[in-house]
Amino acid sequence: MLADRDRVFTNLYGEHDWRLAGARARGDWDGTKAVIQKGRDWIVNEVKESGLRGRGGAGFPTGLKWSFMPKESARPTYLVVNADESEPGTCKDRDILRNDPHKLVEGCVLAGAGMGVGAAYIYIRGEFYNEATRLQAAIDEAYAAGLVGKNACGSGYDIDIYLHRGAGAYICGEETGLLESLEGKKGQPRLKPPFPAQVGLYGCPSTVNNVETIAVAPAILKRGAAWFAGIGRPRNTGTKIFCISGHVEQPCNVEEEMSIPMKELIERHAGGVRGGWDNLMAVIPGGSSTPCLPSPICGEVLMDFDSLVAQKSGLGTAALIVMDKSTDIVRAITRLSAFYKHESCGQCTPCREGLGWVWRVMERMVAGNATVAELDMLLDVTHEIEGHTICALADGAVWPVQGLIRHFRPEMERRIHEYRAVATRQAAE
Ligand SMILES: Cc1cc2nc3c(=O)[nH]c(=O)nc-3n(C[C@H](O)[C@H](O)[C@H](O)COP(=O)(O)O)c2cc1C
Repeated sequence: MLADRDRVFTNLYGEHDWRLAGARARGDWDGTKAVIQKGRDWIVNEVKESGLRGRGGAGFPTGLKWSFMPKESARPTYLVVNADESEPGTCKDRDILRNDPHKLVEGCVLAGAGMGVGAAYIYIRGEFYNEATRLQAAIDEAYAAGLVGKNACGSGYDIDIYLHRGAGAYICGEETGLLESLEGKKGQPRLKPPFPAQVGLYGCPSTVNNVETIAVAPAILKRGAAWFAGIGRPRNTGTKIFCISGHVEQPCNVEEEMSIPMKELIERHAGGVRGGWDNLMAVIPGGSSTPCLPSPICGEVLMDFDSLVAQKSGLGTAALIVMDKSTDIVRAITRLSAFYKHESCGQCTPCREGLGWVWRVMERMVAGNATVAELDMLLDVTHEIEGHTICALADGAVWPVQGLIRHFRPEMERRIHEYRAVATRQAAE
């Protein structure tokens, strides 16, 4: 269990003042200048040593990503913060934005100094209207106090921070779709390479990071890499905000140590599964794109990157969607298929055509109006879609279907047999 002294997000629930005075009282903006003056290499190395992996879903090592930014550049360079947060089940960045915005603003200054960028753009989902208002107020306060802008914190480093509101599209959370949208174009992901560190925003070297990734950076740089690396386990370090929703007694966001057992996380913080642990059917562990896990695995798995990958799922955004035995799990996953079909940008044929096909077949699986052979065909098609598109939206769309078939195939077959039995009886009557 995470000790109170190790907690980074001390105002996650909005119990205290989110403004500059309150943030300062909690230690934000303390010693920022000294960290900046330690220099680029020190900052990047410290983040590397901490083992921090991106909190936006893919878990890419943050220090390594920062090191890809050019040391010398004839063009401007940018930090882009991904505050699009649209993955179903996920609502952690929202609490940082509305209750601890100075953590993010300070993080932009320190991450920016580590990469030597001249400006940071924060791209926030359009629906986060109140959050955008607060974040802008925090940015304005930081400018007024000389913490951001020319000679930020009196360090000699110049950085501007701009807030940009999106218009509500899941695909604009994909980092290159986000860059397109930020440039005023349709949010369609770009082919990679070139990666954003070479050709990013406005054609300039850029790094895209999640809100939580950037907001946790000041704590790492002030408390030290060893402190962060000492929480969790190797390759899976630090504190993490988990979002727990669905059939639990008290849905919540909670900051815990990485690698906490899933069962402990749910029972300690969310009041347990509705009706008790034995009433658990399955958990989607990392936001809607990650395959569900059946209850026996949930009882053993650790909430971290490696443990969940070993179970053919993933940590994703660390958003647990808990489903008890009352759930129609085939219908639940089909609802996700409808979401992904709707959110496809339509650029790649396997995604544009394939996700509609998957959703329609899934609708028939809900009713059982299919054949067992089609179940195998559905699985085959998901493998044809996976890995064959420009971005990972389609992967995230088919993984839940694959997880469903992997763990709940008997339930799908039962529906098919039942449906056919009824149909045969009716035909005979
Ligand atoms: C369809 C799609 C949607 C995504 N949405 C988000 C999002 O809302 N927020 C986010 O931080 N990352 C999102 N990502 C991941 C980003 O592409 C990128 O990996 C992330 O912002 C990198 O930040 P990190 O290294 O700090 O994790 C999405 C990816 C895909 C494929």
